[in-house]
Amino acid sequence: MSERKRVLSGMRPTGQLHFGHLVGALTNWKKLQDTYECFFMVADYHALMSEYEHPERIHQFVYENVIDWMACGIDPARSVIFRQSDVSEHAELFTMLAIMTPLGWLERVPTYKEQLRELEGRDLTTYGFLGYPVLQAADILLYKAHGVPVGEDQLPHLELTREIVRRVHFLLKTEIFPEPKPLLTEAPKLLGTDGRKMSKSYGNTLNLSESAETIRTTVQKMFTDPTRIKMTDPGHPETCNVCNYWRMFAPDQYVRVWDECRTSKRGCVQNKKELAEVLVQMTEPFRAARTRLSEKGTNGYEEVERILQAGAVKARAVARQTILEVKRAFGLAG
Ligand code: TRP
Repeated sequence: MSERKRVLSGMRPTGQLHFGHLVGALTNWKKLQDTYECFFMVADYHALMSEYEHPERIHQFVYENVIDWMACGIDPARSVIFRQSDVSEHAELFTMLAIMTPLGWLERVPTYKEQLRELEGRDLTTYGFLGYPVLQAADILLYKAHGVPVGEDQLPHLELTREIVRRVHFLLKTEIFPEPKPLLTEAPKLLGTDGRKMSKSYGNTLNLSESAETIRTTVQKMFTDPTRIKMTDPGHPETCNVCNYWRMFAPDQYVRVWDECRTSKRGCVQNKKELAEVLVQMTEPFRAARTRLSEKGTNGYEEVERILQAGAVKARAVARQTILEVKRAFGLAG
């Protein structure tokens, strides 16, 4: 057994990953590999909860997302990368936790009503969707994770997980799980190309797997400082989305760039052109991973499938133990 503490995190495979995922999660995941034993999961059951009417692309997004994870340094030799539905213990623990979770707790989770409102065009008034955070609790507890790297939006789910742990311990009169702590990603907010929150549903994302050409044309269309009409007008980099990208993605250059904007030495067109090149260079590994994997078979998906299968074997070994322990505590197993 490893001496290191364990973390588990997951992502829902509902689309291509974008720069928001990079600054919001992946950069942090990569670092955690140095200090923790890491389990990174593609949460395809969770994806199905909102996409069950049109689930056709989930399968493909599983592969696409894992390729991006690996391209940015999530290493299957150091971390367990697996797909939730490959490890049936998730569904088993979910059942046991669901039995003990009061309905009122779930109805009170703020993300629940929010999602019902926000994810339009989908019928989310299902039994399963109400139980979304219970399945997430099962994900975390199966591996007895000490830490869960998440963004702020996931804190209510973590809090519910901790409440479930306390309830299980109270009911079973034995302590099985550590109370998992959130490892908050302290990422400055990255806005989408139109200045609103970066989100697939707004169509304002910059995807990590994008071609160099698309990155250039997308950056060209980004909003800049609205008070700067002529090039001779002084810029206000603090309130310019393009300048904020500079600060985030070229930290060693942004001071000079911002200065040139303020003093009108740099126009917005040049500013975007040069930013596009920074981003094209940054996304090179994501395109390269696809080229490299394609040489090993259809889109590289077969190779990723092999990695996921190997991950599932390791995940199952841990999950199996926990399920046995919980079943015994309930008096279900011998
Ligand atoms: N709900 C998470 C999200 O939408 C994804 C997720 C599923 C997760 N299971 C998890 C995150 C377990 C952390 C731990 O981002």
